[in-house]
Amino acid sequence: MKRIAVLTSGGDAPGMNACIRAIVLTAHRNQIEVIGFRHGYNGLLKREYQPLHPGDVVNIIQRGGTILRSARCPEFVEPEAAERAAQNLNSMHIDALLVIGGNGSFMGAEHLSQYWQGQIITLPGTIDNDINGTDGTIGYYTAIDTALEAIDKVRDTADAFERIFLIEVMGRHAGFIGLSAAIGSGAEQVLLPELIDPEKGVDLEQIKRHVKITRQKRGMCSYIIVITENLYPGGATALAQKLTTDMDVECRPVILGHIQRGGSPVSMDRLLATKLGAYAVEAARDGKSLIMIGEKNYKVVEVPLPDTRATKKPLDPYLVEIQQDFFDLVKHPT
Ligand code: F6P
Repeated sequence: MKRIAVLTSGGDAPGMNACIRAIVLTAHRNQIEVIGFRHGYNGLLKREYQPLHPGDVVNIIQRGGTILRSARCPEFVEPEAAERAAQNLNSMHIDALLVIGGNGSFMGAEHLSQYWQGQIITLPGTIDNDINGTDGTIGYYTAIDTALEAIDKVRDTADAFERIFLIEVMGRHAGFIGLSAAIGSGAEQVLLPELIDPEKGVDLEQIKRHVKITRQKRGMCSYIIVITENLYPGGATALAQKLTTDMDVECRPVILGHIQRGGSPVSMDRLLATKLGAYAVEAARDGKSLIMIGEKNYKVVEVPLPDTRATKKPLDPYLVEIQQDFFDLVKHPT
């Protein structure tokens, strides 16, 4: 093992830099050279890369984003693209490729493995936490905190005006950020893809009923609904408009958007990224391939790459139960 390459791909996530740092420092200790492809798989196709030495990763552990830049690369699904990537990797004498990213990036890694004989190891880097085989993904913990900070601020003004707010969080088609942000902020309701029948969509009657009962019990009060993106046509803005019209009570939308992807990584993300990055290099050194390095119950685990996408990762059922139970005004009427 002489030379490895790393790239960051798909939606960037706080902690990706910490992971790159751990990879570079661990490789250096093992006398392995590291190069970083820039702009995700695009850099692999265009041979856009930079050598990475320990000096290049000083003071990046606390920085959001990724020093290697990121991108989505739709053309990477084509066989010609994977063949070109394989040729580039071979001509550059790369022994192992480390991919930090989410589901789409993992799909790219599996696709590449059909054309390239080198070792491929992936690391879960996405705020969505929608990857099987790991309790958390790099960036998820920071995204929750960012959402919470924003929701706490909205709560202050919501309280002052006794208003209803609908807060849209990211997650693509997974409710991990939504559930954690709702529980952490004490939101009155949460709308998550996992809890909504896709045929029926968002249950407007249930929302209205809950707002009404809450206000009957508590009097006029603020009311916060957290909703995952892509759940309602037109998003939180359209849903807030609909609720405003239907209930004859003002409902304001707040879309948190990309602020959830930025910022300095929280401790959990820095530690996770460091642990997984260091382990990935050791796994590469030991000849492993086609695995994701994840964490289960605070222990680093190796997960066969296809298993990471085989089934939809479930939400923690106990957390779901707690959220629903706290706001079940029929069971707990006062
Ligand atoms: O996968 C991370 C994520 O932030 C999702 O939560 C979101 O749906 C998507 O990326 C947004 O991607 P883009 O920045 O390309 O619009």
